Amino acid sequence: MIELEQMVIELSEAFGPSGFEGEVRQKIASWVGEYTNVTYDHFGSLIAVHSGTTMSPKVMLAAHMDEVGLMVRGILPGGELRVVTLGSWWPPSLLAQPVVIRSREGDRLGVIGAKPPHYLREEERNRQLKLDDLYIDVGARSAAEVQAMGIAPGDPVVPAVQTRPLSGQSVYMGKAFDDRLGCAVLANVLQTLGSHHPNQVVGVATVQEEVGLRGAKAVSPVIQPDICIVLEGVPADDFPGNSIVQGRMGGGPQIRRFDPTMIANQALVDLLIDTAQQSGIPYQVAVRESGGTDASAIQVHTHGGVPTTVIGIPVRYAHSHQGIADIRDVSHTAALVREFIFRLDLKTVNHLKQNPW
Ligand code: CO
Repeated sequence: MIELEQMVIELSEAFGPSGFEGEVRQKIASWVGEYTNVTYDHFGSLIAVHSGTTMSPKVMLAAHMDEVGLMVRGILPGGELRVVTLGSWWPPSLLAQPVVIRSREGDRLGVIGAKPPHYLREEERNRQLKLDDLYIDVGARSAAEVQAMGIAPGDPVVPAVQTRPLSGQSVYMGKAFDDRLGCAVLANVLQTLGSHHPNQVVGVATVQEEVGLRGAKAVSPVIQPDICIVLEGVPADDFPGNSIVQGRMGGGPQIRRFDPTMIANQALVDLLIDTAQQSGIPYQVAVRESGGTDASAIQVHTHGGVPTTVIGIPVRYAHSHQGIADIRDVSHTAALVREFIFRLDLKTVNHLKQNPW
């Protein structure tokens, strides 16, 4: 069994922007195939069924495989590549960052360029950078040179980043922690759960979350879960000057009561908190002013609705080239999910369904 830390490193470095999740999916399948029955829906999501001592309730765990990336839109005469985004980026965070372009003839390196500061006019300096100001520079001098490298419109792009440890033994810096940390928890739980719990657990690694929860919308009606936990790499909020910190890196799994796209089943949240307290697992509770996850789709795209919440692993600088996260938060999240599943059975889940608040 592969260690959680190694899993995080491999998942983080895997290539997988929205719509191109194959490499991530292959890794997860290779890790959970021995413990579950793995199938795929017609959109690319992975479905790993793990049976306990009964076939119901059906407990869905979901994590999305895609990372925010870019796609080559076209090649300018000078050889620069214009792009569209796969998922949401804050354009200033892209400037001067290295990227890898997956062309049909292999991976190519580039850097995000813009008009150099030395040449900016006063009014250009004072306005915010937009995607239109940016391009990928692969070191070419003409469109013909770029074409000769095998690069073409439609090629997907992700940050060119290695996952590296920071000072302190459990903290790492790397890309795509949103949501490869959730994928790591998903795979780890499926590997370590054992079959002595009275549930059927369905682990779902979804596609295309970052472009509008598309994979979750497609797969949820197929799963028809009785209850669902979404595992997410969520934006940490322990930055200077924030007076309401609910997502501290190293503060433990973050259990979500609310975001603008989802009101969690509050009884489910209470049961998770109870589980964390009794198991001695650190946790934090979030009421989010912004954001949304697969949970909002899964919650309503199942016949009759489904009790849902999100457990988040705090990630500093999510949706940028260098996120920072603490592996202890990942292992605590896996521990919490495992403990929680052992507390579930048909009676408990039916109670949550009948008494959501
Ligand atoms: Co995410």
